[in-house]
Amino acid sequence: MRIIRSPKVMQRICGGLKREGKIIGFVPTMGYLHEGHLSLVRIAKKRSDILVVSVFVNPTQFGPKEDFKRYPKDFKRDRFLLEGEGCDFIFAPRTKDMYPDGYLTYVSVDKITRGLEGAIRPGHFRGVTTVVSKLFNIVRPDIAVFGQKDAQQAVVLKKMVDDLNYGIKMIIAPTVREKDGLAISSRNVYLSREERKQAKVLYQALSAAKEMIKKGERKADKVTSSMTALINKQPLAKLDYVAITDANSLEPLKRIRGEILISLAVQLGKTRLIDNVKFRVN
Ligand code: PAJ
Repeated sequence: MRIIRSPKVMQRICGGLKREGKIIGFVPTMGYLHEGHLSLVRIAKKRSDILVVSVFVNPTQFGPKEDFKRYPKDFKRDRFLLEGEGCDFIFAPRTKDMYPDGYLTYVSVDKITRGLEGAIRPGHFRGVTTVVSKLFNIVRPDIAVFGQKDAQQAVVLKKMVDDLNYGIKMIIAPTVREKDGLAISSRNVYLSREERKQAKVLYQALSAAKEMIKKGERKADKVTSSMTALINKQPLAKLDYVAITDANSLEPLKRIRGEILISLAVQLGKTRLIDNVKFRVN
């Protein structure tokens, strides 16, 4: 496994591999890897000849009051875990090489970035689409794997790849969870013991919602108010939003039907957690 810092060097290596006809699989991450990330790595590994994983905490996707400066890092451990998965290249660029002085170019996707996370984190998706676009141009993967954990990110990036003709096969992998249902996230390390206990309410609320819908409820506001009540029972949990939308257009639904996405964001102390479930309703 090689660790590459320079975007130019990474681009040259990947260009060479492509000319040899190798299939490049790519998993972009912000590091501090966990089982969720590794599940994506395993999928990419199976489907490619060369596996590239990027580790880059992208400053442009964090708001001024967000956790960019304290985002957890452990590159040694990331390197060890990726070595164990048979990763061929870690691309870990320096911020100044990705965004040199005078950097001016951004990629943004309209409309579907306005609701949900986009409404609360202005500029977030512009940062995500910009960095992923740059990473795609550097690595030029055939296949890229993302997690359903970040449902809106997955929809937005698929749209970018379609609209800008990237010709990359996008694979969206299921959310990996802890035993009690909490979606694994690098940010879970911020939680105190009590916050961690109460954090299981996210998945409980999503599961309860799914159950209500399975039993026949079709009014979105009925489902969201019952989820809200459940979350508000946890004294440390502050609900940012809960939404039932079409899974592809991300338009809010009044009546539940078709391929739907139920998503929510909850603050526990200083930590903000998101989760979702996606399923089809007839
Ligand atoms: P990061 O939060 O490090 O996540 C990297 C990838 O892992 C994303 O595709 C995310 O959806 C996926 N992931 C995270 N937790 C997961 C879980 N529990 N189960 C399955 N997949 C999970 O998302 C980002 O980084 C950044 O926005 C990035 C795309 C790298 C751009 O900077």
